[in-house]
Amino acid sequence: MNKRIAVLPGDGIGPEIVAGAVKILQTIGTLYSHQFELTFADIGGCATDKTGTPLPNETITICKNSDAILLGAVGGPQWDSLPVEKRPEQGLLKIRKALNLFANLRPTTCYESLAVASPLKKDIIEGVDLIVVRELTGGIYFGTPSERTVIDGKPGAVDTLQYKNEEIERVIEKAFEIARTRSKKVTSVDKANVLETSRVWREIANQVAEKYPDVLLEHMLVDNAAMQLIRNPKQFDVIVTENMFGDILSDEASVLTGSLGMLASSSLSEAGPYLYEPIHGSAPDIAGENIANPLATILSVSMMLRLSFQLDKEAAIIEEAVNNVLNKGYRTRDILSPNSTIVSTTEMVESVNKEI
Ligand code: NAI
Ligand code: MG
Repeated sequence: MNKRIAVLPGDGIGPEIVAGAVKILQTIGTLYSHQFELTFADIGGCATDKTGTPLPNETITICKNSDAILLGAVGGPQWDSLPVEKRPEQGLLKIRKALNLFANLRPTTCYESLAVASPLKKDIIEGVDLIVVRELTGGIYFGTPSERTVIDGKPGAVDTLQYKNEEIERVIEKAFEIARTRSKKVTSVDKANVLETSRVWREIANQVAEKYPDVLLEHMLVDNAAMQLIRNPKQFDVIVTENMFGDILSDEASVLTGSLGMLASSSLSEAGPYLYEPIHGSAPDIAGENIANPLATILSVSMMLRLSFQLDKEAAIIEEAVNNVLNKGYRTRDILSPNSTIVSTTEMVESVNKEI
């Protein structure tokens, strides 16, 4: 198989974890005779420093000409005081929009060996296997106006939560399709008791559900969902929700597994290319120290192999290697538990590589 992959390391720990994931990708390529042609490009604060914009046109072109995209993370305190359009996070919002990546998939599975690293009790999290499908190109992060303004003669600010019906429908359809491949339950999360966009969201979810009689649909208000995720996470299979609710709930779901450093994600469009990235940020507090957990990014590569290239066997081999390495007790600092061996980023990558 011959595939072009755009690689966007970004800022902070981004380059460290992406280097590890690329190594694993290359090992898979060598062992199973696939040609992965990598093109590196800039995004985020490093791109602003070099070119004045966090998402140069060249990066968009490279991504559009690729079969899949691997991204590290963007951001850092040194760029916080820049005007909005130069800030690293704008690069992220813009690439999602430019590639129409409307559905962000964030699976959370509980590794048995990591159950002790979770702040929750073992019997609550053992066996958790859920996926958050977050709408990614609409809602309050993109609505206009979004600005400082004057309200009733007093200074204030406004953001706008808006959705076209078709934007709601396509992401809910995606969630139902995914549920068909799993245990066939969709929980649609909204705030229909307060928000008009949520009432429309709920109507559309009910309409889509009619096309999937084999899948069970339930509705849940977002505040209750936040509570249920901690109280009884095993009740969930596929959670589908709008952009901001999904942002918050998927970070919450990540603590179930013990660390942000374990969670991979993929962002899908109608026609591709899809984008793969860890759900965590650029972790400026530990950047450059070779201690970041590379597993979320490595697992993002396995998602890429499965969803973009249909290489199910190779994807499973990476996942099994990660599981074995954890079972052997190798831990980066964020997932450290009693009786385990502390390893650096590069040592963790090397262990997974050897296991493959
Ligand atoms: P963060 O996810 O970067 O870090 C939160 C905490 O988790 C930190 O203590 C960090 O050290 C730890 N952590 C994160 N990933 C880790 C890993 N792989 N291994 C070990 N520990 C890890 O979130 P934070 O601190 O709120 O944001 C830092 C910067 O990242 C900000 O500029 C923010 O805007 C940006 N950000 C970027 C995202 C992206 O590129 N997709 C997503 C979230 C935040
Ligand atoms: Mg977030």
